[in-house]
Amino acid sequence: TNTYRIAAIAGDGIGKEVMPEGLRALRTAADRYGFGVEVTEFDYASADYYLEHGQMLPDGWFEELRGFDAIFFGAVGWPDVVPDHVSLWGSLLQFRRHFDQYVNLRPVRLLPGITSPLAGRKPGDVDFYVVRENTEGEYSSVGGRMFEGTDRETVIQDTVMTRTGVDRILKYAFELARKREKKHLTSATKSNGISITMPYWDERVEAMAAGYEDVRTDKFHIDILCANFVLHPDWFDVVVASNLFGDILSDLGPACTGTIGVAPSGNINPDRTFPSLFEPVHGSAPDIAGKGIANPVGQIWSASMMLEHLGEPEAAAAILSAIESVLAAGGDTLTRDLGGTGTTASLGEAIASTIRG
Ligand code: NAD
Ligand code: IPM
Ligand code: MN
Repeated sequence: TNTYRIAAIAGDGIGKEVMPEGLRALRTAADRYGFGVEVTEFDYASADYYLEHGQMLPDGWFEELRGFDAIFFGAVGWPDVVPDHVSLWGSLLQFRRHFDQYVNLRPVRLLPGITSPLAGRKPGDVDFYVVRENTEGEYSSVGGRMFEGTDRETVIQDTVMTRTGVDRILKYAFELARKREKKHLTSATKSNGISITMPYWDERVEAMAAGYEDVRTDKFHIDILCANFVLHPDWFDVVVASNLFGDILSDLGPACTGTIGVAPSGNINPDRTFPSLFEPVHGSAPDIAGKGIANPVGQIWSASMMLEHLGEPEAAAAILSAIESVLAAGGDTLTRDLGGTGTTASLGEAIASTIRG
């Protein structure tokens, strides 16, 4: 039987609280479906590690992590201790870049039992993917500060788009759209205001669309696209976006499905030259950390995405269907963001026992 080697990095805040529930679901699914998971936990990519070592990651992190089949990640960031750009550029963003995880796949789905904040919306009305470019774009290290401390103080950060980088994310999104029932791809743009990079993005979308005549393609500027996520979430099927636009859309989408606490993501290297990384969309939530009330569903659903990626589709589906049936049943086990009175552990246990069958 197969045994998958998983690197588990919990990180900061509620990352440490939801990780055990993600691992519980993962191990339960492995037992039930007859494969092994060998989990190695790492304490780096956290504020505690930074305080002790003066850096977020050990020097040998790349060699250490590259040998795993996948990385299971919680959340990083503790801004009272380490500035966010230091902790994030020192850890998660390094993983995404060095492991060439150029796809950030973020499903947005209204699950049964959850009331959408959008009036009258039911499961089925909101069911799409945000496909976010994950290695370039607005998240660049090109730029700098000049004339510091003077009236001429100037800061510049350039957006980087490469043909390879843009085409590969578009191709992934078109391929995904092609496999779905609606076969509909929406591109997020802003080519009216951002007059160099975004017209280029539109141009590449048009060129790629020519090879996918079976996929209906449209585009919206990011401002009205945000409005349409709220007003017409049923319009969307696969939404492809640059790094920053995809970041924004992937909190807005899940908010429209009740809570960002349920949203999962896959930071995927489709070429499989390096491990992919699976993590909830949310962060370390300092405002609720330490209370045991964080919603573990985003972490658990990320375990399902990881198993899908590793080639265990039945186990992946079982985790997702356990999430759905526990949410549909409702009641006290649900966490507060879902209207319940439960804890991270009570919801995680309910899902694990449903996977167990
Ligand atoms: P956040 O996602 O941590 O929290 C935003 C809000 O959503 C908070 O009110 C929080 O309590 C709530 N929330 C988030 N996850 C929840 C869950 N599972 N259950 C219930 N409620 C939940 O975003 P933020 O406050 O902007 O960021 C906090 C820290 O996390 C920062 O350091 C930020 O840089 C970092 N961050 C990390 C990641 C990541 O590791 N991928 C993602 C986003 C933010
Ligand atoms: C996310 C997060 C990160 C991002 C931050 C923490 C750098 O918001 O995974 O969505 O912007 O990519
Ligand atoms: Mn984000």
